Amino acid sequence: MNDLPEIILVIGARPNFMKVAPIVRAFAEQNAPFKTRVIHTGQHYDVNMSDIFLQELGLTEIDAFLEVGSGTHGLQTAKVMEAFERHLLSRPQIPSGIVVVGDVNSTLACALVAAKLEIPVAHVEAGLRSKDRRMPEEINRITTDAISDVLFVSEPSGEHWLRKEGIPTEKIFYVGNVMIDTLVKLLPVALRQEVPRRLGLNTNGYTLVTIHRPANVDHKNHLQEIVDFLIDLASRVPVVFPVHPRTSTRLIEYGLLPTLQQVPEIHLMKPLGYLENLNLMTEAQLVLTDSGGIQEETTFLNVPCLTLRENTERPVTLTRGTNVLVGRNFSQAMELVELIRKDKFKNTYPIEGWDGHAADRIVKILSHLWAPIEVPSVSEVISV
Ligand code: UD1
Repeated sequence: MNDLPEIILVIGARPNFMKVAPIVRAFAEQNAPFKTRVIHTGQHYDVNMSDIFLQELGLTEIDAFLEVGSGTHGLQTAKVMEAFERHLLSRPQIPSGIVVVGDVNSTLACALVAAKLEIPVAHVEAGLRSKDRRMPEEINRITTDAISDVLFVSEPSGEHWLRKEGIPTEKIFYVGNVMIDTLVKLLPVALRQEVPRRLGLNTNGYTLVTIHRPANVDHKNHLQEIVDFLIDLASRVPVVFPVHPRTSTRLIEYGLLPTLQQVPEIHLMKPLGYLENLNLMTEAQLVLTDSGGIQEETTFLNVPCLTLRENTERPVTLTRGTNVLVGRNFSQAMELVELIRKDKFKNTYPIEGWDGHAADRIVKILSHLWAPIEVPSVSEVISV
């Protein structure tokens, strides 16, 4: 077994874990001709930003922790690059390829290192574009896609943007959404968590809030507006607000935390694990977020989602899902809240490849492209 060629899968920050877990599992279940190794860069390192997820998702075999920690974008990206390159060069074997997911700094940093060492790179969740270069993730997406050899697309817009950017068609594979693979697998377990009941809340009787984007939390007046909106919202429907570390730091710095703490209908809590968060999301009347992944999860779950951003790199959640972009238009947001409370909101429509089997398709394709032995052609093994 140990003589098999290696594939390295990179994880770094919270939204990576649920995307990599099903791919690792699919490699094992399909008996693919590789040994997989999972490398954790350490971009996220708190127990509740990382360890809980690894346990719940079954990502228990981590081959190396690079422990890079927090920093400015330049520093963090550079630290991941330095540590990942050192790690690869210290190994007895050059991997057959590396798999990176999503759009965090660790994604770009590891893709860059591998590309320069001439190791093939596969990018999962390729082609997503917000067209807003002020978002650090947009820079990470464009750059990672430009240097990747295999681009796995999760929603229809991805193929469009990659072609527009001149990526050769033979590198692009529409496989669907690996994050939905994890959701489908763990939903029954999540529903047994009973988090709403523990908070004294009913199904369909609260709003779940997640806010962490720099554009929303790193400016005092923007965060103040959000806090004011949450207080108004809580007077209509209770609010559950697990607070991201970046947001919590800013709430304290701007003196806004006591204002929120004074409202009994706002349940403030530390960041939640995957299962508790999925439980809360599934039973919520509405979700208010600026996350990327949550826009997709709420669409799949058919839970109304208001997104506090001007744009989204996941437009299928607008056209076929429950998502509405409200930016900082809080009066529009409140009108939508009232429609949702009256049960007069959008319907959802199925999306290709959001079916629990995206990782299976990825492993079949990589086994074809990166395996040392002859396997059937890609068109023989894959159809979404
Ligand atoms: C990162 C990703 C973002 C993703 C988000 C999910 C980039 C550019 N951004 O943003 O796309 O949506 O993760 O959380 O990669 N911190 C802790 N403990 C931790 C991790 C972070 O306290 O375990 C604090 C640190 O003060 C740190 C801050 O949170 O400076 C921000 O962390 P960082 O990884 O830099 O960015 P995120 O805002 O989490």
